[in-house]
Amino acid sequence: MFIKDLQLTNFRNFRKEMVRFKPGLTILQGANAQGKSNLLEAIYHLCLGKSFRAFRESDMILWNKPYYFLQGNIVFKNRIHKVEIGYEVGKRRKVCKINGILLQKGEDFDFCPVVFFSPDDLDLIKRGPEERRGFLDREIGQLSAFYRDCLQRYKKALRQKNSLLKINKLKKKVDRGLFTPWNKQIIYFGSRILQQRARLLSIWGQFAAKNFAHLFGQGKNSTLMLEYHPGVTIDPEIMNNLQEIENEMALQIDRATHQESEKGFSLVGIHKDDFTFLLGGKEAKRFASQGQQRSAIISLKAAQIQFYSKNYEKPIFILDDIFSELDYTRRKQCIALFQEAQQIFITHTLHEVLKDSFLNQKAPYSLLKINEGRIETVH
Ligand SMILES: Nc1ncnc2c1ncn2[C@@H]1O[C@H](COP(=O)(O)OP(=O)(O)OP(=O)(O)O)[C@@H](O)[C@H]1O
Ligand SMILES: [Mg+2]
Repeated sequence: MFIKDLQLTNFRNFRKEMVRFKPGLTILQGANAQGKSNLLEAIYHLCLGKSFRAFRESDMILWNKPYYFLQGNIVFKNRIHKVEIGYEVGKRRKVCKINGILLQKGEDFDFCPVVFFSPDDLDLIKRGPEERRGFLDREIGQLSAFYRDCLQRYKKALRQKNSLLKINKLKKKVDRGLFTPWNKQIIYFGSRILQQRARLLSIWGQFAAKNFAHLFGQGKNSTLMLEYHPGVTIDPEIMNNLQEIENEMALQIDRATHQESEKGFSLVGIHKDDFTFLLGGKEAKRFASQGQQRSAIISLKAAQIQFYSKNYEKPIFILDDIFSELDYTRRKQCIALFQEAQQIFITHTLHEVLKDSFLNQKAPYSLLKINEGRIETVH
């Protein structure tokens, strides 16, 4: 998959710009605060119908303008798709069209394989489980409408169970039967979510381990592992058996009833899931260097690319400010990891650094200069 062209009107600090892209590597170069990340945001938005950073649609409108509009052509599954996205302040309505057909409210974009990296992704290692569950839900949800649906229904059942638990918190004797309908749903949807999370973490983990070894060599301290910690203890042996996962979940949720009633909220289920990055068997969050943490995340993102490329279509890889904290060797090794992507967008303030790392590898590339919201194709 790749983007052929993009037209931006009143989007962030771009007033009216039109840019053509080629498959392969595109470098966006410019000083700080010129619009590099804004352009990446527009590219991501065009592919997935949403931003990776805006809190509100109106944040993306050029200040003091009444609307933004993005239009572009994406080559996906060997066909060109015209995508149009706009938002008007007055109407407070977002309009998305694909090949001229209006998407209904709440209707999702078809799966477009796009992988995005930004320095904020380090939070995946540094911050709490919620961050990591968010990552899994976003990424697996992007792949599977079934997963999105299970997640939505799980969350609804959990909310309802929690309000029931809260109401009954102070009661001496709680009727277990009260929770049965919610538990049934929590078990049904939760087991399916758990199975998907385990499957993808295992596949991505294997690719990521290879990628990390590529960056850091085969030493025993450079083995990367992603370890899944479900909020329900499940023997990995039964991970393929949905019925057994359901039974085990039912058992553990039932066992927790008394404690849950005391606390007034649910304690067992996939809403407590987490996963850890282990480097040489040690938790990366506590022991790994900045560069190692960044490399671990890059290895995971590259793993997603390899997975999409193998199972779906060669993806687009968007990398915002990847090179701070990576030394010369790591920078050079990185490029090999991205080869499975059909199109790569990468930002940097200095052309020189990229020249060192990438451009002397003789791979063809395009260079765009971004200056005060203007885009100039240099190469
Ligand atoms: N809605 C908006 N309207 C106008 N300008 C905006 C809007 N949103 C953000 N900006 C401005 O756009 C400018 C460029 O932001 P951007 O994040 O793209 O910079 P950058 O080139 O990635 O810089 P850096 O190298 O520091 O990451 C910033 O000065 C920012 O304040
Ligand atoms: Mg930026």
